[in-house]
Amino acid sequence: MALARPLPALVFRRIVHGVVDSTSERAFASLVNGGARHGDVHVALGQTTGRGRLGRAWWSEPGAGLYASAVLLPRAPYAAAALTMAGALAVLDTVRALGATCARLKWPNDVVVGDEKLSGVLAETRGFDASRPAYVLGIGINVGHVHFPAELLAERAVTSLRLLGSSASVQDVEELSLAQLAIRLEQVDEDPPRLESDFLAGLALAGATVRVTTGAGEDRGRLLGLSLGRGLRLSAAHGEISIPLEWVQSLR
Ligand code: BTN
Repeated sequence: MALARPLPALVFRRIVHGVVDSTSERAFASLVNGGARHGDVHVALGQTTGRGRLGRAWWSEPGAGLYASAVLLPRAPYAAAALTMAGALAVLDTVRALGATCARLKWPNDVVVGDEKLSGVLAETRGFDASRPAYVLGIGINVGHVHFPAELLAERAVTSLRLLGSSASVQDVEELSLAQLAIRLEQVDEDPPRLESDFLAGLALAGATVRVTTGAGEDRGRLLGLSLGRGLRLSAAHGEISIPLEWVQSLR
């Protein structure tokens, strides 16, 4: 019987920038230029064109937030949504430990308190080659922000750890979130059931009646479970259904 090869421990290598366009752009540039290693983390003081999902901008006031992007070069491609789930859970672990105990996950990549967004993660890949998978996981956490621009507030409600009463520094948040990310990434390979059940608990929707939007329309039902292989399981009016995670656009 072949023995499973032990995974090497993930060692982060920090690459520190001042104000840059986007840490995720810096991470992709390093992949193109060569020299990028699994576990490289590009961290910036601020970003001029920080971005979120669906082409939205990520407000990146210098010195006020964690703006970090990790290069990940796993041996095999990640299951759909696994990286986003690991990143979002690492952030959730972090902000809860730093005092935002009411924080929860919002599908697919937000960490919110009430309806206010505290953090977002963005898992991306470019020119994907399944034989040499390469990903960039961007993490933005609002730490010391006291004010947000009116244009952003017109779009959505936002908050920061400072506004929630935490005195954590950006450095505290970075250290804790990278430590949690290492743990959550290990679970992707070694303990997917733990990742799935923690993510489901983090959504705080298990057993609730939910609406799931996919490219094909909307499904309603009681949320029974979530797994990387089987997707979301719902008890719908016409019986139990499973929706692949990569189809799920919104879950509320
Ligand atoms: C989202 O909310 O849709 C995801 C936001 C991700 C923001 C982070 S900040 C660090 C990294 N660099 C970027 O340009 N975006 C991510």
